[in-house]
Amino acid sequence: MTISMRIALALVAVLLIIGASLALVWRPAIETIDPPARQSFDPELVKRGRQLAAIGNCTDCHTVRGGEQLAGGMPVRTPFGTVYSTNITPDPETGIGHWSEAAFRRAMNSGVDRAGQHLYPTFPYDHFTHVTNQDDGALYAYLMTRRPVHAPARQNQLSFPFDQRPLIAAWKLLYLRHDEVRPDSSKNSEWNRGAYLVEGLAHCGACHTPRNAFGAERKEAAFGGGEADNWLAYAINVQSPAPVPWTEQALFTYLRRGWHPDHGVARGPMAQVVSNLSPVDADDVRAIATYVAGLFGSPASDRIRSAEAVRTEANKAPTAAPQTSASIFAPNAVSPATNTGAAIYAAACASCHETSRPLPYAGLNLHLSTAISAPDPRNAANTILYGLPALDDERSPIMPGFAPSMTDAQVGALLIYLRAHFGHEPAWSKVEQTVAQARQAQAAFLQTSADPPNIATEPLPRDKP
Ligand code: HEC
Ligand code: HEC
Ligand code: HEC
Repeated sequence: MTISMRIALALVAVLLIIGASLALVWRPAIETIDPPARQSFDPELVKRGRQLAAIGNCTDCHTVRGGEQLAGGMPVRTPFGTVYSTNITPDPETGIGHWSEAAFRRAMNSGVDRAGQHLYPTFPYDHFTHVTNQDDGALYAYLMTRRPVHAPARQNQLSFPFDQRPLIAAWKLLYLRHDEVRPDSSKNSEWNRGAYLVEGLAHCGACHTPRNAFGAERKEAAFGGGEADNWLAYAINVQSPAPVPWTEQALFTYLRRGWHPDHGVARGPMAQVVSNLSPVDADDVRAIATYVAGLFGSPASDRIRSAEAVRTEANKAPTAAPQTSASIFAPNAVSPATNTGAAIYAAACASCHETSRPLPYAGLNLHLSTAISAPDPRNAANTILYGLPALDDERSPIMPGFAPSMTDAQVGALLIYLRAHFGHEPAWSKVEQTVAQARQAQAAFLQTSADPPNIATEPLPRDKP
């Protein structure tokens, strides 16, 4: 082969590679449209879209605290830097006013914006890709009938090379799957509806599934426990650390009301999920509960036995002076940290957590607490430091935050004691470090979910073990 032929071949190879990469990366822009008139959308479709948007947490992620609804700018922190959500009001200049339904659908399906730019998967389109065209149409109708807000996008804070959007194309090639969620004819329609919602719009796995080094969900460990905003999103499959196994009825109650007598109150990011679900049709929440109950599976007999023991322990009539206080001053108690922890618990916690007052206004007996049985103490530390602040205008469970009154060492000692006394798993490691981190992260998302006003009167379905 002559030199010139070799050069020509090499050139062809390079061109092929460039061509293939371009084909992979390049997406055409979709024509702009004039913002459609509000009246052009069927009110029923808009109403359906509102519910779907609630299930998809669109408003949470696209609204900054105290800011204009859906106008974007909310920081989503990732290990690679911070991505800001964008304005999805129908403002023509800074929002999606010029987007056709086809452009919106493409964003939901494949994470590409109207202009053809790849979007970061912090916008959970790896789940939204499973949403039907019909539901996308309803979401589009809902968004396009909101009040337009002028709010330019904020600059993302990502380090090189993560600030290079074309790279997202490679990520998609590896991790974006469009055809995973198929109806299962061996299951009933409620289960299938639940699967559609959980895997798609509700994107439960975005928080509850662990991620790999590239920030993609590890499918082989689906629902095995992930994280969100310095909170642990517990495993919601067979690996669940909940002391009492979850049932379909318990899930329904928890997702509907934000708490359950065997499991306590949803906090942090989960409180927002629950509060979003409150206007959603009960049938859809029931379907989610049905599907998620299947993820947990039926508990093994030893798990049922230990749950029974936990329940018996937790239901013991509260003693006037909590039992723990007797052992605090006992000279042969386990360790100094446990001693300190026990003393703090007896003085500051037991009056609410060992009482005959019912949940959610009293604290859960901590034998039942997933936070105390979880693989790490993050959520317990967040709760102890920041408590459960009262909600405006409604009666809600309240716990004081102890961040101002306790040192990291004291909270650490308390956690070590709680784990030893109420936990059902081996001791945690790096407890004090976790407390320091929780203090630093300022757990900005501490809110309890909004309880419906009828909470005290309506009898609660209590399930059998
Ligand atoms: C976990 C947070 C999160 C949730 C939940 C979320 N989004 Fe987003 N969304 C984002 C972020 C972040 C971006 C910007 C991504 C980027 O810049 O690459 C975005 C971008 C978008 C875009 C592209 C807008 C543009 O101008 O490029 C659309 C459309 C969108 N989201 C719609 C929705 C809808 C509809 C829902 C609910 C079904 C939703 N999002 C839920 C975080 C979220
Ligand atoms: C934005 C992140 C996020 C999303 C999305 C999310 N969760 Fe959660 N979830 C959490 C966190 C964090 C916790 C722990 C809350 C706590 O400590 O109170 C949690 C707790 C739970 C629990 C309680 C588990 C236990 O053992 O106590 C259940 C059940 C649950 N989530 C189900 C779901 C379902 C079903 C969905 C989808 C409809 C969902 N979650 C979506 C973050 C999330
Ligand atoms: C004024 C009453 C009150 C006091 C005092 C209080 N708590 Fe709570 N606590 C609550 C309420 C209400 C909840 C929400 C119901 C629930 O989930 O237990 C809660 C929740 C919790 C949870 C989450 C349980 C779970 O998994 O759902 C933990 C852990 C906790 N408290 C620990 C403590 C500790 C440790 C102290 C003492 C330093 C303390 N609490 C003091 C009322 C209180």
